[in-house]
Amino acid sequence: MERTLAADTTAKTDQEVLLKGWVNSVRKHGNVTFIDLRDRTGLVQVVFADELLGSSEELKPEYVVEIEGVVRERGERYKNPKLASGDVEVGATKLTVLNEADTPPFPLDTDGLEIDEDLRLEYRYLDLRRTRMTQNIRKRSEMTQFVRNWLVNEGFAEIETPVITKTTPEGARDFLIPSRLQPGNFYALPQSPQQYKQMLMVAGFERYFQLARCFRDEDPRADRAYGEFTQIDIEMSFVTQEDIMNLAETMFTELVETLFPEKRIKQKPWPRIPYHEAMEKYNSDKPDLRDDKDDPNELAFAWVVDFPLFAEQTDDDFYHGSGSAKFAPSHHMFTAPHPDDIGLLSTDPMKARGLQHDMVLNGSEVGGGSIRIHDAKIQETIFELIGFSEEQKAQFTHMLKAFTYGVPPHGGVAPGLDRLLYRILGEPNLREVMAFPAQASGRISVMDAPSPVDKSQLDELHISVRE
Ligand code: AMO
Repeated sequence: MERTLAADTTAKTDQEVLLKGWVNSVRKHGNVTFIDLRDRTGLVQVVFADELLGSSEELKPEYVVEIEGVVRERGERYKNPKLASGDVEVGATKLTVLNEADTPPFPLDTDGLEIDEDLRLEYRYLDLRRTRMTQNIRKRSEMTQFVRNWLVNEGFAEIETPVITKTTPEGARDFLIPSRLQPGNFYALPQSPQQYKQMLMVAGFERYFQLARCFRDEDPRADRAYGEFTQIDIEMSFVTQEDIMNLAETMFTELVETLFPEKRIKQKPWPRIPYHEAMEKYNSDKPDLRDDKDDPNELAFAWVVDFPLFAEQTDDDFYHGSGSAKFAPSHHMFTAPHPDDIGLLSTDPMKARGLQHDMVLNGSEVGGGSIRIHDAKIQETIFELIGFSEEQKAQFTHMLKAFTYGVPPHGGVAPGLDRLLYRILGEPNLREVMAFPAQASGRISVMDAPSPVDKSQLDELHISVRE
C-alpha cells in the first residue's frame, strides 16, 4: 500500500491507509488508546483497540511507527477544528514500530522559549520538531523560494561566489583558513560577496542575486548571529538608488502580502528618511515607526538615506589606516560619495554624504546597500582618506584593476534573510529562524565544534599551537 500523509487522510474516509511518522502523544481512555501521529504535514489521530495494543507502554512519544488502518469520520462532537485532519481519525488494524526513541530531554509540545537555549541547541534536531520551529524553518524555505522566483522573473541571474577567498572587509573580524599549498598564507571566508558581485557587474551580468552565506567573527546579539548568516544579496548595473530601493520594496511588499497575509504594512510606499532627520526626530538611524509596538502584525518598513560617507575612525576599527587620516567608511569603502559632495572629500570629508541606503523594519536595520564607486580615482581617494598604507591598498588592487576595463555604474542592496524573517515573525532573536545556529559562546554543540585537530593535520598546514 502507498503511504498516506496525515493531511491527506481527510479525503480518504472509509478507505484503508498506511501511515508513517512519529508518535506525538499517547492517551489511554478505557479500553482504547489514542495517539496523535505526526508527519511532515501535521497530526492525525489514530485509535487502537486493546486487542492491538495491549498496553500503551508499547508506544511512547517519538517512536517511529508504521500504521495500517481505516479512515473514519469522527462523530460531530469529537471533531477537532484545531487539527487540519480533525474531522477524521484512523482506526488502526496493524502497528509496526520502526524505531524506539528515548525520552527527549525537554518537552516538544510547547513553544520552547521557556527552555535553556544552549540545551535546545545541543539537541537542535529535536528542538526543530516543535511546531513553532518547524513552521519558522518552512517559512524560511517559502521565503527563499519566493525571492528566487521573483528575481529570476525580473531578469536576475543567481550566481554562486566563492566561500574560500580573501578578506572582504565589512567591518567585522574575518575567519581565516590556512593554506596548505602556500605556507604562511591564509584565505578568508567572505563577510559578504561584495567584491565578487561588483566584479560580476564588470563581467556584464547587470542583474545578480545570491542567497549568500556571510561569515563574521563577531559577538552575537539578539539580531546578530555568531559566525554565519544569510543575505539576499543583490547587485544591478545602470541604476539609481531609487531603482534599487523600488525593486527591493516591491519584492518585499509582495512577499509579505503573499506569505504573511496576517501582517499589515503600515505605510506604502515605504517612507524614505534622510539620516539627519532620523537622528533629530527619532535619535536613531533605524527608527521604529510602528503605531503600536505591541501589535505583532504591524510592519513599519522605511529606507534611511543620505548617510554621512564617513564616521570617526576608532582604534579597533578594521579600517584603521596607518596614515594620519581618521575616517572610517559608514557603510563600506566601495560606497560612492554623493555627486554633489565630491568637493568635500578634499575639504571636509566628514560632511560628505554617501549614496547608502539602509532598509529598516520595526526599529531594526534589516538591509544595507549603496551605489558603488565606479571611478578608480575616487576609489583611490577613499583609500587615502581611510589612511590605507601602500600595503593595505595592495589588498584591493584586483578591484582597481577590474575597474580599468569598462565598469558600468552599479549598486545594490543586501537584506539579511535571518534578520528580516525574525523581525517579520516577531521572534525574540534570529536564531529562532535558523536551523542550526551557533551558541552565544561560538560553540556548535550539536556537532561539537570547534574541536582540536591532529598534530599531523596542523603540521601539514605549517601551524603550531601555543599552549
Ligand atoms: P551589511 O554589512 O550592512 O552590508 O549587511 C547587510 C545586512 O546583513 C545582515 N547582517 C547580519 N545578519 C545576521 N547576523 C549578522 N552578524 C549580520 N551582519 C549583517 C543585516 C544587514 O542589514 N555588502 C554589503 C551590502 C551591500 O552594500 O550591498 C553588506 O554586507 O540584515
